[in-house]
Amino acid sequence: MSGNVTLKSETPRVSASGLDNVVAAETALSHVDGEAGRLIVAGYEVEDLVKAHDFEGAAAALWTAAGLEPAPSEAEVREALGRAREAAYGYIPALLSSKCHRTVTEGLRSGLSMLADEPDRHAADRDIPAHIRALGAAAVMTAALVRAEAGKSPVAPDARAGHAEDFLRMLRDETPSDAEAEALNAYLVTVADHGMNASTFTARVIASTRAGTISAVVGALCALKGPLHGGAPGPVLDMLDEIGDRENIGPWLEKEIAGGARLMGFGHRVYRVRDPRADVFNKAVTILTNGNERVRFAREVETAALKALRAAKPGHRIDTNMEYYTAVLLEALGIPRDAVTSVFAMARIAGWTAHVMEQERVGRLIRPQSSYVGDWPEDEAAA
Ligand code: CMC
Repeated sequence: MSGNVTLKSETPRVSASGLDNVVAAETALSHVDGEAGRLIVAGYEVEDLVKAHDFEGAAAALWTAAGLEPAPSEAEVREALGRAREAAYGYIPALLSSKCHRTVTEGLRSGLSMLADEPDRHAADRDIPAHIRALGAAAVMTAALVRAEAGKSPVAPDARAGHAEDFLRMLRDETPSDAEAEALNAYLVTVADHGMNASTFTARVIASTRAGTISAVVGALCALKGPLHGGAPGPVLDMLDEIGDRENIGPWLEKEIAGGARLMGFGHRVYRVRDPRADVFNKAVTILTNGNERVRFAREVETAALKALRAAKPGHRIDTNMEYYTAVLLEALGIPRDAVTSVFAMARIAGWTAHVMEQERVGRLIRPQSSYVGDWPEDEAAA
């Protein structure tokens, strides 16, 4: 046996299986204050970032905060993103013919994998940086995948349009109203970055190996897809549908909670109070729909769910997370539920790529240790 083996008694212990409260990086990108219900993104309160910028401006602010030089302006990002959408449209025939996915999000995962970390000199998108290629491709691919599910052919991007507006146009083959484009913009800006969440951490781990921006984005999307992270909105809508009517709210919640189910759209690892992003979306969907019946019903379910969760889990501070009103808002925009996680990714790619830049600039290879709890060779176990 090698003399370098770590002995049982030297194995460090891990404090929590979810790395709670472990600080994994220094970042200038965003800060989540879970006690105050506050989110700061690129130096702005999230509510102010939504008022100050379209999605292109929020992405520019994040990349600038990440140290990208020269710092891009909102107009430069808009122009490059339009070109990136056009270039991404060239991948659509191959993506749609591959049929190697079951859902829109799995399709997006395949589609983003088609992009090269470093494109060769013959590629149509070779002069567009990877962070912008990924952002443009996510919108074009999501729209085309949604249409393909409905048996419709893809709609080409319009490079001159704003990103949110163009996505909705590619999705529906008609120009959205200003209110709809504004609501989607508010969504994309609000979720563009959010501290060291699971997908962002994944992106940083991959970036720390210098694997490249596209690889980091694909890995991050894989982490985002899970229902405990970005996959919750679809199940939120399933829950509202299953409850069906007012009379069933109480009995349904009681049965689910008693059976040990997790209610989607509630609870958060960091927020101990209401997620501030839930309020941005609640406001946006109220303006968009004039507070229609679906929104009123969602509010009633929310109130009852919070009451039931607080009664069932008195030791935990469980509140509404942003996925709850994401679901209602994106549904009001006509985005099918199996595409909601892809639309989340369309926004979060701005944050992931900013974290990749920051990690590549200041970070070291991320290589933690584990605490070995398995069997030891017999001679050491006896020692
Ligand atoms: N419904 C029922 N019980 C819950 C819920 C919920 N939504 N959230 C937490 N709990 C309970 C959980 O069962 C546990 O109870 P007990 O100690 O009796 O076993 C206790 O609260 C603590 O849960 P935890 O899993 O240790 O807490 P966490 O910090 O790991 O949970 C969470 C965070 C988001 C995974 C969890 O709240 C959850 O599963 N929520 C539902 C899924 C969801 O809405 N996901 C979207 C998250 S927000 C988007 C994002 O930022 O990624």
